[in-house]
Amino acid sequence: MKKIRKERDNMTIETERLILRPFLETDAADVLEYLEKPAVNCFACMKLNSIEEAKEEMKKRVGEIEYYFAITLKDTGKVIGEIDAYPEPGEPHSDESAPKDTFSPCWMLNKAYQGKGYAYEAAHAFFDYLFKEKGARRIYAYTEDYNTSSQHLCEKLGMRREGLFLEFISFVNNEDGTPHYENTYQYAILKKEWDK
Ligand SMILES: CC(C)(COP(=O)(O)OP(=O)(O)OC[C@H]1O[C@@H](n2cnc3c(N)ncnc32)[C@H](O)[C@@H]1OP(=O)(O)O)[C@@H](O)C(=O)NCCC(=O)NCCS
Repeated sequence: MKKIRKERDNMTIETERLILRPFLETDAADVLEYLEKPAVNCFACMKLNSIEEAKEEMKKRVGEIEYYFAITLKDTGKVIGEIDAYPEPGEPHSDESAPKDTFSPCWMLNKAYQGKGYAYEAAHAFFDYLFKEKGARRIYAYTEDYNTSSQHLCEKLGMRREGLFLEFISFVNNEDGTPHYENTYQYAILKKEWDK
C-alpha cells in the first residue's frame, strides 16, 4: 500500500519497506557507495570520485522535490538507490505548446540491496505517483540489450517492449577513442494500461 505525503514542499512516497524522499546534503556517503563505480555505462557520467564530490552533488540535488527521489529503507533511513523522471512532451519535434505528459525513468540501486524486490517496490510506487499525481499519460524506459535486470523490472511493471534500436547511443568510447554504440530496448506503458 502506497502513501503519498506532502511535507512542507517536499513529497515523500511511502511503501511497505521504503520511503522515497528528496535528497538531503547528508546523503553524500550513501550515494558515493553506489556512484563510485556506476554499474552501467549509461550512468558513467554520474561517477563520483570522492566524498567531496558527493557532497557537491548533494547540494545540486536538494532543490529537487518533485521528480528526483532517494530510495531509503524505512527501518534505518539508509539511501539504497535513486529514481527520477521528468515531464517531457510525448511527440518528437513538438513545439512549446505540447503537453509534457510523458516521463522516462532512471533507476539505480546499491548492488548490496539488489535482488530483494526494492527496485520493483520503489518503481511501482513512483509510476503510480506519476500517473495519478503528475499527469503522466505515457512512461517509457530505455535499457541496453545486455541489462537483463532492468528489462525484467520493466516487464514486472507491465511495460511493453516496443522496439530494439541498434547502435542507438554511446556513453563511453572504445579503446581507440571511437564511440562505443549500444543496442537499446524501449519499453512503455500508458496510463490506461496502468489503470487496468
Ligand atoms: C535495474 C535494477 C534497479 C533492478 O534491481 P533488482 O533488485 O534486480 O530488482 P527487483 O526489485 O525487481 O528485485 C529482483 C528480485 O528480488 C527478489 N526478491 C527478494 N526478496 C523479495 C521481496 N521481499 N519482494 C519482492 N522480490 C524479492 C525477487 O526474486 C526479484 O526477482 P523476480 O522478479 O525474478 O522474482 C538494478 O539491477 C540496478 O540498480 N542496476 C544497475 C543500474 C541500472 O542498470 N539501471 C537501469 C539502467 S537502464
